[in-house]
Amino acid sequence: MTRETGTARVADATDAIDATDATDTTDTTGRTGVPGVPGVPGVPGGGTPFPLDLWSEAVYSRRSIPATLATGDYAPEEPGAHSGSGTPPAGPRFPLDPPPLRLEPAAHASRGLADPSVLAALFHYSFGLMQHDLTPGGWPLHRAVASARCLYPSELYLVSPGADNQRADVHRFDPLRHQLALVRAAVDGCRPDPSAGPGTSRFLVITSRHARTARLYGGYAPRLCAQEAGMLLGAVHLVAAALGLRTRTGLDRATLLALTDGWLESGAEHPMAYLEVGPGAEHHDWVPADLAGALRARQSGAALFDPQPVAAPRAMLDELGTVLAHAPFADLSCHLYLSRVTGLPAGRYLLAGGRLRLVRAGDVVPEVERIGQTEGRVSMNFRAVSFTAYLSVPRDAAVAEHGADAFRRLHLVAGAAAHLLSVVAARHGHSARVHNGYEAATAERLLGLTGSGETVLFQIAVGTSGPDAGFRLPVVF
Ligand SMILES: Cc1cc2nc3c(=O)[nH]c(=O)nc-3n(C[C@H](O)[C@H](O)[C@H](O)COP(=O)(O)O)c2cc1C
Repeated sequence: MTRETGTARVADATDAIDATDATDTTDTTGRTGVPGVPGVPGVPGGGTPFPLDLWSEAVYSRRSIPATLATGDYAPEEPGAHSGSGTPPAGPRFPLDPPPLRLEPAAHASRGLADPSVLAALFHYSFGLMQHDLTPGGWPLHRAVASARCLYPSELYLVSPGADNQRADVHRFDPLRHQLALVRAAVDGCRPDPSAGPGTSRFLVITSRHARTARLYGGYAPRLCAQEAGMLLGAVHLVAAALGLRTRTGLDRATLLALTDGWLESGAEHPMAYLEVGPGAEHHDWVPADLAGALRARQSGAALFDPQPVAAPRAMLDELGTVLAHAPFADLSCHLYLSRVTGLPAGRYLLAGGRLRLVRAGDVVPEVERIGQTEGRVSMNFRAVSFTAYLSVPRDAAVAEHGADAFRRLHLVAGAAAHLLSVVAARHGHSARVHNGYEAATAERLLGLTGSGETVLFQIAVGTSGPDAGFRLPVVF
């Protein structure tokens, strides 16, 4: 398992994961280069969809949210914005195997994603369609990862580098049909089967179609898209680990641009993240038990988050500590305001290195209600939750080092952890609600982060589902 906090490394050869010590987490060489993907080194930075003023417009304030959001009307289109929301590729389609009921280390781990059942499980449990909500007027389709108003701007691709310097085959996941669709073949006119070929390592690549979210959220969309991309990266990493695969995560922008070179829908789709997945036989004892069941049950609660005031078990917090200690990126802090957790006094805690430390005991509601506000109103019923989490990241240092790209990178770091938290909550019958109705500056002040250069990127409330969480049926492929 590979984790890192800095520059990513991409393997020298397509099967490099097999050959290296998979527990080696960091690479300091800063080398970039993707086998089978030409034009790699020195990819120019290019324009970023995350200008520096997004921090002030979409994190420290919500000024970029258009007034039309309240009425559910479409926001006026951004000048020069791409309106395409992404029609499925017209190329050949490859139905995936039915996803297994349980997620467990693959019987033939050396085949990696060349095993059709592993391929199907990885896509389905990372980003597949999980539940159909029959509530009238609700959002009917729910996937393995949360998405603001179920708009799902992310796309998930399989990039299979060819031998030598051949370009890569690229397939896109179609969750609605549980299929992969060919986007680009290494050899023109070929019809590469995504699970054919040797058990070498492949890349899972995440992109984002901002237009899907911008139709409601206007200029606020890049923030939501970056959050979701991070959550999806956490999802792929978790499911790959449950399948016993070896993974290597990275944040490096040049590598990402190289992996997406030549096949992205220009102007419409932004490259966000990648994860190298290789064959192997690893036992990840940190992966929660019955992960498939938890992912099928995962949900964000009712439209207004107003759970039953029921205590969460202490085991949920222990498990959260273990899982977050194996998150793809370590450079974040998890602050917890505990209201009702069996055996633990109410108070503010810090979860770091797998250990929970009490910072201040006492009623947390007044502080959380000051942080968790949307235009002066309390965003959720924090009086009934089990706990509320705030994820902070070292913003000043990242901006100093990476400039505008710090926005993408830090949202990947925090988003991956946010998804892990939602899965652990689901394992214990709780909902986890990501909610952007919070004051980032107030959060920093009350969490004691002022002057530290850290910024809070996620607020997540955890509680029972409550009586109004809708009527959802499982989706079966
Ligand atoms: C990045 C992100 C931001 C969100 N922001 C809000 C929010 O500000 N307010 C809110 O009520 N729900 C918010 N949500 C919750 C989504 O609306 C919810 O995840 C979606 O309805 C999907 O439901 P499910 O997770 O149960 O499948 C957010 C979710 C995500 C992923």
